[in-house]
Amino acid sequence: MAIGASGRIVSVGKVRTARRRRDVGDSVILPAATDLHVHLRDPGGDPAVESLASGTVEAARGGVTLVGDMPNTNPAVADVDVLEEKARSAHGRAAVDLLLFAVPSRPGALDRLARTAGAFKLYLSPTTGIDRVPLRAELPGLLSRLSQLGLPLTVHAEAAEEFRPGFIPRDPVGWNAARPTAAEGAALDRLLPPPAALRLHIAHVTTAASAARLRSAGTSFEATPHHLLLSERSGLDSRFKVNPPLRSEAERQSLWEAYRRGEIPCLASDHAPHSLSAKELPFETAPSGMPGVETMLPIFLDRVRSGELDLGTLIATACDRPARWVGQPLGRIAPGHRANLLVVDFKRRTRLDPRRLAAPCGWTAFEGWEAIFPWEHYRDGERIVEDGEYVGRPTGAVVRPEFAPGEGSPTETDTEPAGP
Ligand code: NCD
Ligand code: ZN
Repeated sequence: MAIGASGRIVSVGKVRTARRRRDVGDSVILPAATDLHVHLRDPGGDPAVESLASGTVEAARGGVTLVGDMPNTNPAVADVDVLEEKARSAHGRAAVDLLLFAVPSRPGALDRLARTAGAFKLYLSPTTGIDRVPLRAELPGLLSRLSQLGLPLTVHAEAAEEFRPGFIPRDPVGWNAARPTAAEGAALDRLLPPPAALRLHIAHVTTAASAARLRSAGTSFEATPHHLLLSERSGLDSRFKVNPPLRSEAERQSLWEAYRRGEIPCLASDHAPHSLSAKELPFETAPSGMPGVETMLPIFLDRVRSGELDLGTLIATACDRPARWVGQPLGRIAPGHRANLLVVDFKRRTRLDPRRLAAPCGWTAFEGWEAIFPWEHYRDGERIVEDGEYVGRPTGAVVRPEFAPGEGSPTETDTEPAGP
C-alpha cells in the first residue's frame, strides 16, 4: 500500500519504491474503527472518570479512529452555543477525530444545529442526563422535521410506557425485568417505517427479533459488545447495570448468532463510564452505563483469532459501515481513503486488566477477558500508537458528515460485507 503526503491511501498492493517504507512482518494491517456511540462526558464531567482528552486516548489505543460523541452532557448539547464551545474545547485535546451529536430537544435550535452538528441523538426514554423525552404524539412531527434537516439521527429506542413502574430492581436480572425487551419492540412500532428521507439509525439493539425487523425495514442499527457478549447473569453488581439492560442468555445467544451471520450492520460500544463509587451505590440508584471504547475492537479481534467470527464481518461492522453512515473516507483500505490504519499481531494476546487500560474510571465489565490490542495505530499515515501506547499529539479534529448527493444509507446500498 502507498500513502501520499496528504495522508490518504494512494494505491493498494506491494510498493517497492518509496521515500519511507515500513514492513510489518507477520502482522496484518487493518482499517481503524469508527465507534458511533461514546459518552466522553465533556462538558461537565469529572475528568477523574472521563473527559474528551482521556476518552480519545482510550479510543486510539483500542483501534478506534473516529468517535461519535453523545450529547447527554452537562449542559446537554441542545443548542449551537454549547456545541460550538464543545468543538472549541476539543481543539488541541483530542487524540482521535470526533463527530459531535446534538439532542433535538429545543425546536427553535434545530436549524442551526443541523448546520453545525455531526448528527442528532433522540432519546425515547429518560436516561443519564436526559429527563425530558418527546411525547408520543409529538414523535411523528419531530421525525418528519428531522428528515428535512439531512443529518443522521440515532435513536435510543426504549418506550418508557413498557417499563414496570414501582418495581425495585436489585440486580441486572431485575433491571431486565424492569425495562423489558417489549420496550424495544414498542419503540420500533413507533419508529418504523420512518419518513423516507430520514437517515435513521437505532442504537444498541438487544434482541434478534429487533435486528430482523430493522433489517427488513432497511434501517441502520448497531449492537454493543456487552449485549452481544454479556447477559443478565454475567455479573450481579451495578457495573453490569446498563440501558438498555443486559438480556437473558438465550436472547444474547440469538443476537450473537445474528451478528456472526452478518445480519447486524454496525458494532458500537455505547462507552458510558461512571465512577466506581457511583457504581457502588445501591443497585436501584446506581447510574447505568459501562466503559467500552478501549476494549471493543481488542475483544472482537480475539473472537476472530478463536475462529468464532469472520474478520470480514468485524471490519464491515466496526470500520466500514459506521464510517459510511456518517460519510467519512475511513474504514477501508482503498485509494482515496484516509490512511487511518492498525497493525495487529494475532499472537499478541493479553488479558484485560483495568490497571493496564487508559480509562481513568478504572474498571471494565470485561475484566479477565482475552483481547488483542493493535500494537500500532496510524492517523493520516502518522503513528499515534506505538507498541500499544499512545504516542501522538492531540490533533484530532471535529468532522461532519460528507455525503455524495443522492447517496443512500449503507444498509440499503451494500449487499456484501467489505473485506479488509
Ligand atoms: C448512558 C450514559 O451513562 O450516558 N448509559 C447507558 O446505560 N447506556 C446513557 C444512555 O445512552 O442511555
Ligand atoms: Zn449511550
